[in-house]
Amino acid sequence: MTFLRSPQGRAVATIVVLIFFIAVLHNNAEEESYLHSFPLPQRASGRRFAGLRERMALSESAWKKSVQLRGRMAESHPSNPQIPLFPAQSLDQFGKYPYTLWDFFPPTWTCPHDVQRIGRLGDGGKWVCGMSVYESIPIPTTWMRGVPTGGQEGVVIYSFGINGESSFEAEMFERIPSARIWGYDFSVDAWGKQIASKYHDRAFFKKVGVGKTDEPAKSPPFYTLQTLMAQNNHTYMDILKIDVEGSEYVSFDSVMDYFTSAWRGNGDAVLPIGQIMIEIHVGDDQKGIDFKRFRKWWERLESMGMRPTWMEVNLMAMTIPDHKTDPRCTEYVLVNARDGNNVLWQE
Ligand SMILES: *[C@@H]1O[C@H](CO)[C@@H](O)[C@H](O)[C@H]1NC(C)=O
Repeated sequence: MTFLRSPQGRAVATIVVLIFFIAVLHNNAEEESYLHSFPLPQRASGRRFAGLRERMALSESAWKKSVQLRGRMAESHPSNPQIPLFPAQSLDQFGKYPYTLWDFFPPTWTCPHDVQRIGRLGDGGKWVCGMSVYESIPIPTTWMRGVPTGGQEGVVIYSFGINGESSFEAEMFERIPSARIWGYDFSVDAWGKQIASKYHDRAFFKKVGVGKTDEPAKSPPFYTLQTLMAQNNHTYMDILKIDVEGSEYVSFDSVMDYFTSAWRGNGDAVLPIGQIMIEIHVGDDQKGIDFKRFRKWWERLESMGMRPTWMEVNLMAMTIPDHKTDPRCTEYVLVNARDGNNVLWQE
């Protein structure tokens, strides 16, 4: 305190106080803080996020922030809601708005487990959130008498769009002893050759298409996803892998309609699907899909629990010779964060 009573001390104290007030005034004069309106996680200083619930809460707030930013980015676009999917379709705006559809939907919900790429490199491989969790699930004891062709035990996987390439399914069978996979594709007759015969008792293939309504008389027949689940005595699937060349929009519309009307819980309906690996297609063959339609479809999936946790742009649309076009196909991984049955969130 004797320092403060000296003339030098008073001078120093006066300068410190002045700097403080200038800083406060300067701050108030600035615009509202960039992060001011975003929900950020509450955390004690100096602590790291440790438990699964804390990591999920962190992922949730990071995702919520990106949803708000998505809204701002869309609303500040002069063409909103008719935002072009790719800048190449609106050369007048190129430079000012050089973004694609994918930039509005980044995978901001961090998977709180390991993330592994399963299957071959390039087209056909898929990213999986929590592979080690699925691997840890034991073979149901009832399977001693033979693997059942339906029912809920073990890890239930659906695969739509096989296209003769089954390296993802082959690796899932090898690494997850409790996994059974139901596969559907109207364009091929069987799984790809990658699945060894010793796994055939856990693999169920049908030459069937997935669509928005049941068309059993068609050849090959088409069914909705919820009808196929009922045929297999499933009320839940752990993993859904789907690559159906643009039919994903009407297929999920139908699934979301169905499970919304069947919902008996509180609040918004939750999809009975733990994790989705989906190749999303936009472009010439998906004429009805514009930004507005895509955003509505995507945000409905989010409202039913799905959170984007990984993406990989499929560059083949651009790199195949003589086929140069926009990056029209993207692989997304969405996990269901509102889903109480999800083995990924059981501690
Ligand atoms: C579904 O359950 C019914 C009634 O228990 C049974 O008859 C049928 O075989 C089951 N289907 C499959 C695919 O397991």
